[in-house]
Amino acid sequence: MPYRLTVLGTGYLGATHAACMAELGFEVLGLDVDEAKIERLRSGELPIHEPGLREVLQRNLDNGRLRFTTSYEEAAAFGDVHFVCVGTPQKKGENAADVSYLDAVVESLAPHLTRECLVVGKSTVPVGTAQRLADKLVRLAPAGPQVELAWNPEFLREGFAVQDTLHPNRIVLGIGSEKAEKILREVYAPLGDVPIVVTDYPTSELVKSAANAFLATKISFINAMAEVCEASHADVKQLSLALSFDERIGGKFLNPGLGFGGGCLPKDIRAFMARAGELGADQALTFLREVDAINMRRRARMVDLARELVGGSFQGCTVAVLGAAFKPNSDDIRDSPALDVAATIGDQGGRVTVYDPVALDNARRAHPELTYGSSALEAARGAHVVLLLTEWQEFIDLDPEELGSVVATRKIVDGRNALDAETWRASSWHYRALGRP
Ligand code: UDX
Repeated sequence: MPYRLTVLGTGYLGATHAACMAELGFEVLGLDVDEAKIERLRSGELPIHEPGLREVLQRNLDNGRLRFTTSYEEAAAFGDVHFVCVGTPQKKGENAADVSYLDAVVESLAPHLTRECLVVGKSTVPVGTAQRLADKLVRLAPAGPQVELAWNPEFLREGFAVQDTLHPNRIVLGIGSEKAEKILREVYAPLGDVPIVVTDYPTSELVKSAANAFLATKISFINAMAEVCEASHADVKQLSLALSFDERIGGKFLNPGLGFGGGCLPKDIRAFMARAGELGADQALTFLREVDAINMRRRARMVDLARELVGGSFQGCTVAVLGAAFKPNSDDIRDSPALDVAATIGDQGGRVTVYDPVALDNARRAHPELTYGSSALEAARGAHVVLLLTEWQEFIDLDPEELGSVVATRKIVDGRNALDAETWRASSWHYRALGRP
């Protein structure tokens, strides 16, 4: 009999994991404590914008392999393998991660676990969490040591969540026993030939923190080079291109611009530093403080550059902001560099109109004080300066003449180094970009 799976927590990660595991042929029961979210998922509606996920969800609701519940009792009775996919947000006013949702899942599930099963954590956690939760599970579950824990971090990118789940580049298994390894190898067998790294709990937890720290560092590295380019009239885009041909460096995550945001990278590097501090290894990660600082300085530089272009003050100026999501192909505005810049310019007296292809509703909710347009052209109408802050393809495809016909002055700052400078300058635009002359 194939294993029956549950997915506890149906946010970004959980909704994707549940739908994709059903797609692989498993019977899956998704659980969330949010009744409204479960109702929406049952009717095939996603709480997030994620290309391709809606189709996978609907198909597996229709074939009956995927169901949703709010009952831990039902989940415990159903599942042989329970995937825990709840969030670990940054604590208010602190760098550390808030792992209370994980504890809540274990405390709610464990009392109903009366038979052998495997609980698998997928959330990003401070190293040491898995061992603590494993002990707690055994203590609280009626089945005691028949309930085992494994740690299996998730590396999916928003916008590519389905692809990354069904075609991962690696699988990391932090296990406490060979039996747990055997079960997880069977569960992931339908994915085909994927490299699997089998290790202990702490290493598996650290892999995720290290991966995100590396990615953030790479982005901040090129953005630090952008600062030096700005000081020396050099061109960071050409610098990045030249670096990319060195295979040891590689061109991915080397795009200079407004820097990283989102629900993962910023909070994960902060949580990583906080945990290292607790472990007495804070010196090892002090460089991440600089990575964070470089990243935040890009936002300030963007505001300064825009202010410079409108003559030194935003008072009485209309500013068009293209992009609200933290990156293209997503409606996620968590720690969005674009919205941060828009809000700061608003605070400094600018009249800001924001447009984004899918993140407008989320942006409106978070920043009701800003004005929103229903298209790029509408947002740009009468603007003294246009800021491209999220590199959606529809912005890259904008016609400089058409946009030029609606603005007050043809001035644009390319916050993502996504536009062709020559094309825009040929249409009489004053084109500026971060890190370029
Ligand atoms: C990230 C990790 O990539 C993923 O493996 C992990 O599981 C969760 O965090 P995600 O947050 O979806 O995924 O976004 P990602 O595509 O990594 O981009 C992060 C941020 O970096 C975005 O704001 C993006 O605009 C920015 N970025 C990315 C750059 O500024 N320059 C680059 O070269 C690449």
